[in-house]
Parts: sequence; structure tokens; C-alpha cells
Amino acid sequence: MTTQRLSAQTPADIARAARLLRAGELVAIPTETVYGLAANALDPAAVRSIFAAKGRPQDNPLIVHVPDIGAAEPLAADMPAKARELAERFWPGPLTIILKKSERIPDVVSAGLGTVALRVPAHPAALGLLRVCGLPLAAPSANLSGSPSPTTAAHVLHDFDGKIAAALDGGPCRVGVESTVVTLAAPAPTLLRPGGVAPEALRAVLGELEISSAVARALRPDEPAASPGMKYKHYAPNAELILIRGSLPDFLGCAEERQADGILVFDGDMALCSPRFPRCLSYGREDCPEEQANQLFSRLREIDALGWKRVLVRRPAPDGVGLAVYNRLLRAAAFREVDLR
Ligand code: TXA
Ligand code: MG
Repeated sequence: MTTQRLSAQTPADIARAARLLRAGELVAIPTETVYGLAANALDPAAVRSIFAAKGRPQDNPLIVHVPDIGAAEPLAADMPAKARELAERFWPGPLTIILKKSERIPDVVSAGLGTVALRVPAHPAALGLLRVCGLPLAAPSANLSGSPSPTTAAHVLHDFDGKIAAALDGGPCRVGVESTVVTLAAPAPTLLRPGGVAPEALRAVLGELEISSAVARALRPDEPAASPGMKYKHYAPNAELILIRGSLPDFLGCAEERQADGILVFDGDMALCSPRFPRCLSYGREDCPEEQANQLFSRLREIDALGWKRVLVRRPAPDGVGLAVYNRLLRAAAFREVDLR
């Protein structure tokens, strides 16, 4: 199969992507968070081909993308007042809301759960496409299962060239980490995955918000996963990453001691680091989690392209959107974390 390169700037290409999706094909689409691998959410065969292309475990449900609240409503059994408030405040944007599903959602989308994850993406091309094709789109991140999520069309093609019908290029993703996932189908509103909307912003609307225990640590083997995605190895480059919490001098000492092939630090660290560690990349300023989020997945892919095997990473502060950066790095590092303080 030849994967068509389509441009989000070209209306004829948006129309072509919509036709392919209506015909049951897979199309990678830009969103403001990461690229998604989209299929018609109402077509079980098309949705099954997402799982096959990604190598995704069958028990990991997909997010359904719609153009507005009105299109979300028929997909949920009901829309509680809190859901409406969240949607009005954060959609279009990087928030996914889990609700009880209506019978329109095929079981393969929800992986057999009684709930559905709904989101209105903020990228103009994604919204335009959703409107033109007139279908809800199931779309996980457009990476091979387990690999770092894609934030450019080049990342998508690296994983899927020749395996999907088309990739719609909408430029680099603005947010760079996936949407925040919150469930309103649990006894109390619960954050299942941190993302582009900070927990404090959700609390401002919801009042109370529990944080799933899987957000900042590994689940024990016997512990149930509220969000199946939290069980799996994720976002991981081939390199062995180790997260290090501590001052820059201690970090550098540790990198020498452990004979790291490379280091991933903050922008402001580069002047001090690069003379001692020429193999040095940075992922934004220490005090700017939005910048870290924006660059993280690109850096993880670069690390593999450079062939580094063991990489020490300065730990981000898990505050605001930084909780999402920390959550992704922790999984990318298979929970290897060292505290030098
Ligand atoms: O930003 C994003 O959310 C991107 C873009 C493409 O929209 N999509 C994305 O999808 O990150 P994916 O499949 O990589 O991650 C979806 C997460 C998984 O952890 C999955 O387990 C969880 O959402 N999820 C989906 N439906 C769920 C449900 N009904 N109950 C609990 N968790 C659910
Ligand atoms: Mg993913």
C-alpha cells in the first residue's frame, strides 16, 4: 500500500481524507496534542484495523473524536451537568471525558467496557475533517504500540509508511503530550491520565478530583487499571532511560559514574553540560512544563536515531502540565527513577 501524503492546508486533501475514512480506511490526522490514527468509530471492521496496525492490545479502548458537544451527546448514555461544564470550559482542547456509553458505540471501540472516552480536538484541520466527514473518529496516538507518540507527520510516516491509506500533515503539534483523561463514570471524578489540561484547571470546575494511583507510580501486578492504557509499557524509546532527581552537579556526577551514552537535560543546563557530555540534548526550560511537553516525544525519538543506549534524564517538576511530562517520562523509563537529594 502507498500511504498518501495529504496537506491540512489544502481543502481538497481534507475532502480526500474524509472519503478514505468513510470508506473504512485508516488516516493519520493532526491534533493539538499528538497525531492520531483515525478510523470511522461506527465501523467495527475499520476500528479493528487500528488495533492491527498499531499492534495494540485488544483490551485498551480508544478515544472517540467529535466536532462539538452536540455530536458527543448521542454517543454517551447521558451527559451529567459536570460533563457539560467541563466540555464548555475545555472543548475544543486537550481534555478527554469518560462517560457511560450509548449503544451506538461498538464494543471494539470501548474494548468491552460500558464507557466511552470523548474528546473535541482543537486543531483546525482535525475539526475541519470531523465536520466534512460527518462521522465520529476513533483515534489512538499514531505510533506503534509502546513507542513514543508522534508530534510530526514525519514521526507518523516513520511508524506507518506503507501501512495506512494516508497521513494528513498539519505541522508540529502545539501541546506535544496527549489529552488529559478524566472519568465521570466513577463514584468520584478521577484523573486517569495527566495531559494537556492541568489538574488544577479541572479542580477549578469540578471542585473535587481524585488522581488515579497509576499516574505517578507502577501498578502492582494484582491492582486493577481504571484506564487499561496505564498497564502497558509506553512511550518508550529503545534506549534505557533513567530519571534523576537532584541538582545539576549531582546529576552530572551520576551520569559519569553510570557511564551514560547521553543525557537529556533542561535548556539552561546546556552550557554547563555540553563540555563534559558532548552527547547532550535538552527538552525545554526547567520552569516551563509547556515547553517540555512540546519537545519531549521528539527528543525520545532523536535519542533512538542517535543510537544512544543508556540515557540519564533530569526529572521534571510534576506540577501543572509537568505532571503529564513526568508521567510519560516515568513510563518511558520503565519506572527507573533515582533520587540523589
Ligand atoms: O491526545 C490524545 O488523547 C490523543 C489524540 C490522538 O487525541 N489520543 C490518545 O489516544 O492519546 P491513546 O489511545 O493513545 O490513549 C487513550 C487512553 C488510553 O490510556 C486508554 O486506556 C484510555 O485513554 N481510555 C480510552 N477509553 C477509555 C475508557 N472507556 N475508560 C478508561 N480509559 C479509557
Ligand atoms: Mg497512545
